[in-house]
Amino acid sequence: MSKPKVLITGASKGLGLAIAKKLNPDYTLILHASKAENITELREGNHVLAADLSDPEELKNFCKALKTEHGDELFAIINNAGIALDKPLTFQPERDIDAMIAVNLKAPITISKVAVKLFGLKGKGVIINLSSCVAETGNAFQSVYAATKAGLIAFSKSLAKEVGAVYHDHQIRVLSIAPGFIQTPMTDAIPETEKEKYLKMIPAQRFGQADEVAETVAFLLSDKASYINGSCIDINGGLF
Ligand SMILES: NC(=O)c1ccc[n+]([C@@H]2O[C@H](COP(=O)([O-])OP(=O)(O)OC[C@H]3O[C@@H](n4cnc5c(N)ncnc54)[C@H](OP(=O)(O)O)[C@@H]3O)[C@@H](O)[C@H]2O)c1
Repeated sequence: MSKPKVLITGASKGLGLAIAKKLNPDYTLILHASKAENITELREGNHVLAADLSDPEELKNFCKALKTEHGDELFAIINNAGIALDKPLTFQPERDIDAMIAVNLKAPITISKVAVKLFGLKGKGVIINLSSCVAETGNAFQSVYAATKAGLIAFSKSLAKEVGAVYHDHQIRVLSIAPGFIQTPMTDAIPETEKEKYLKMIPAQRFGQADEVAETVAFLLSDKASYINGSCIDINGGLF
């Protein structure tokens, strides 16, 4: 029997790659990155579907390909791709604001729209959106990023309720995950002095590892998590 398919956006590195490695034995993966050549691992037995999610035309073609090439066997989507362009709001260029809204919020919403329709036909499926702890706490110089991530939590909760209102006898769940400070290429870019400040705020006294987020994703996709729906799962070592 063929394995169910899971789309992971932003699977080239960081959390997306860790999630892909964790899910690889149990699912057929649709690995996404902005360019196909950025997917350098796990290509064998899986699929690569590239799109620059800040480009509306590429997002449209990506959704079309997802539906026509993988729609029948699609079991879950992990909306993980994201960008953080940190700046004081008064110095934030409009193109950065547009890019964060497009990649972090518009793309997950548009991809979820395709997925929820496909899942509705089968009565089964899971959507997981990668939010951030800053959606709940706020963070200086990340007001736009935090707004997009807060939007994802509200979107996930609302869509979970909508699915319950529209479909009967279904096993469709919509969730979000709010990681704290996890070691990835995104956080590697933060200056050491800033990292030290964050470390002092984390009761666990260490940064998180991408594997720890991947474990949670694998659990949330499993039947063991069948009653967890609409929730935002914090993975932050106690940081708030
Ligand atoms: N790391 C943390 O501490 C942390 C904390 C809270 C939330 N998060 C969230 O978790 C997710 C993953 O973060 P990460 O730390 O793994 O980030 P990362 O290492 O920077 O990886 C980002 C991923 O997103 C993809 N991506 C970025 N811009 C894109 C675009 N325009 N079109 C298509 N794909 C694009 C990248 O693909 P390419 O390689 O092709 O560019 C890459 O695969 C993000 O949504 C982030 O906001 C992370």
